[in-house]
Amino acid sequence: MKVNAKTGFKPGVQTDAKAAAKAAGKTAVKAGGKGKVNKAWLHEHINDPYVKLAQKEGYRARAAYKLKEIDETFGLVKPGDCVVDLGSTPGAWSQYVRRKLSPAGAAAGTLNGRIIGLDLLPMEPIEGVTFIQGDFREAEVLQQLEDTLAGPDGQVQVDLVISDMAPNLSGIESADAARIAHLIELAVEFAQNRMKPDGTLVVKLFHGSGYDQLVKLFRDTFKVVKPLKPKASRPGSSETFLIGRGLKKRA
Ligand SMILES: C[S@@+](CC[C@H](N)C(=O)[O-])C[C@H]1O[C@@H](n2cnc3c(N)ncnc32)[C@H](O)[C@@H]1O
Repeated sequence: MKVNAKTGFKPGVQTDAKAAAKAAGKTAVKAGGKGKVNKAWLHEHINDPYVKLAQKEGYRARAAYKLKEIDETFGLVKPGDCVVDLGSTPGAWSQYVRRKLSPAGAAAGTLNGRIIGLDLLPMEPIEGVTFIQGDFREAEVLQQLEDTLAGPDGQVQVDLVISDMAPNLSGIESADAARIAHLIELAVEFAQNRMKPDGTLVVKLFHGSGYDQLVKLFRDTFKVVKPLKPKASRPGSSETFLIGRGLKKRA
């Protein structure tokens, strides 16, 4: 398959509705065991303006517009930044950051900064983005990330950590809330250890059980904490984002 020179990715792969449905877990299993796309979701997906925009602008997922709005609201991505993208697959956030760090806003060529993506699942390469495949909860994977960040003069401190990580949900609320909280706590810990004092952490979380405790964790960790539900986040979804800026000194 040919790579699009303008967008730097293989066309039709990531924004394909069936592939997107599969990635979003929106498939129903037929009695015969063959996966069938959830029709209502597919209809909504095909008519979604952000899906159309993502296809037009060469983003792998509509999620790019969530990060775009967060960035435009809080001025997250700055030239020269070192950015860690947790839960990066299929790669729309990394693509957005990559373009933002390009002097010409391009998907390829000069990159003024560094981007490291990490995900359980594989990710199609993005020019200029270093990708680590693994589970962020595992010590060896975290070590791999630390090693990748290590520069000739020691550890490179990160300017921005963005986490869109979402676990597979079981439907059991307390178990799901605990899984979500665990990923966020690990992202906060990583930010405390590896982020510059004036750095920013963005995480995805969900309203409901555990939300208030996670906001408290953010307030205890960061000088400034803001919530934002971007327009591209589906209105019916309890998904929202927390933005933490400037690390508080640890007691
Ligand atoms: C909503 S998707 C991210 C979309 C991405 N931000 C983009 O713009 O393309 C959530 C991702 O989190 C990843 N994920 C979930 N748990 C993870 C874990 N423990 N370690 C690493 N990645 C994880 C999933 O594999 C999935 O690809």
